[in-house]
Amino acid sequence: MRVEASALFRSTFGVAPAAGASAPGRVNLIGEHTDYNGGPVLPVALGTRTTVVAGPADSGLLEIVSTRDGQLARLDYRENRAAGWGAYVAGVMRELVAAGAAPAGGARIAVASDVPIGAGLSSSAALTVATAKALATLARVPLSARQIAGIAFRAEHDHVGVRCGIMDQTIAALATPGHALLIECASAETRQIPFRGRLLLVDTGVRHELARGALNERRAECEAAVARLKLELPELMWLAAWPAAWLARLKRALPEPLRSRAVHVVGETARTRFGAQLLARRRLKQFGQLLYESHESCRRLYECSAPELDLVVAAAKRAGALGARLSGAGWGGTALVLVDRKREARITAAIRRAFHRAYGREPPITVAQASGGVRRESVR
Ligand code: GLA
Repeated sequence: MRVEASALFRSTFGVAPAAGASAPGRVNLIGEHTDYNGGPVLPVALGTRTTVVAGPADSGLLEIVSTRDGQLARLDYRENRAAGWGAYVAGVMRELVAAGAAPAGGARIAVASDVPIGAGLSSSAALTVATAKALATLARVPLSARQIAGIAFRAEHDHVGVRCGIMDQTIAALATPGHALLIECASAETRQIPFRGRLLLVDTGVRHELARGALNERRAECEAAVARLKLELPELMWLAAWPAAWLARLKRALPEPLRSRAVHVVGETARTRFGAQLLARRRLKQFGQLLYESHESCRRLYECSAPELDLVVAAAKRAGALGARLSGAGWGGTALVLVDRKREARITAAIRRAFHRAYGREPPITVAQASGGVRRESVR
C-alpha cells in the first residue's frame, strides 16, 4: 500500500511525499458495546492496513486523494463541512491544530488501503490514526501512540459525530503483533495478551449505513439507563461499573429496552475480563464458549445482530468451531470464527454451504493475523 499511496501522490501532485504512516484495521474478540460504557474490550489488529502519505501545501487547505476513486478534493479543514472520508481527515487536522502538531499551510495527502469499508473492521480508525501520524511526522512533532489514538478518537467522535468509544483508535495505535489488547476503557489502561488462536473472518457483505445511527441510539439508551441507575447508586459513572452481583436490582430499576441493553453491558463486561484471563492461560476452548455467549447477548439483548451474522455463527457452531460471534458495531459486517486448525477446512466449507443455501452467494472468508499498530512508512 505504501508504494500505491506514494505513486498516487506523485501522479496527483507532481512531487514526492515527505512523510508517511500506516495503521491497521481491527477485529474485536469480545467486549462489544462496552467501550463507551466504561468497560473492557479485547481487540486484535489485522494485517490489512491503510497507508497515508503526506507533503506540504501552500494553499492553506487539505488536498486529498485516495486510490479508491482517484478524485482530488480540496477541503477547508477549518470548516466542519466535509463529507465522506474527507470529514475524518479534516477532523484529524483540526485536532492536530488544537494540539499544536499540525503542518503549517495545510497539507497534501494520498491514501491507499486494503481495509474493507463498512465490513465492521474499522477502516475509519485505520484512516484517522494513519493520517494523524503522517501529518504529525510532516510537522516534525513527535507524538506518542496514545496521543495519536486520542487525536484520532476526537476526530471521529467530536468532528464526524459518531459517538464511538476509544476501542478502534486505541488498538490501531497500540497493537503488537501476535497479541490481543485488553483495554479498560474507563481508565484507558491496557494489557497485551498473547493471542495464538486461529481466527476466520466471514464478511456477510451486509453494509448497514444504519449502523452509525443505531450506534448513537444505543449509546443514548445506555446514558438513559445510567441516569436512572444513579437513583440506586449515586456514584455510578459508567454503566459497565454496575456491580454484576446486583443484576436483580438493575432489572427492577429499568424499563425495557433499557433493561436489556444494561444487562448486556454488565454481562459483557464480566465475560470480557474473564475472557482475557482465559486467553492469557491459553484456555481457547473456554474462551470460545464466551464468544458464543457474547453473540447471544448481542443478538437478544443489545439487538445489534443481523440474520446473516446469526446464520454464520450457527453454522460455525454446528461444524464444531471453538467460538463465533459478530464483531464491531454489528447490524451486518463481519463475523469472527475461532477454530482449531484441524477442523478449519471443514468449518469453512460448512459456513460457505449454509450461507449459499440461504442467500445464494458465498461470503468471503479470510484468516486474521494479529498484527502491529501504527508505524511510520518510508516514502522513498
Ligand atoms: C464501533 C465503535 C466502537 C465500539 C463498537 C462496538 O465499532 O466505533 O467504539 O463501540 O462499535 O463495540
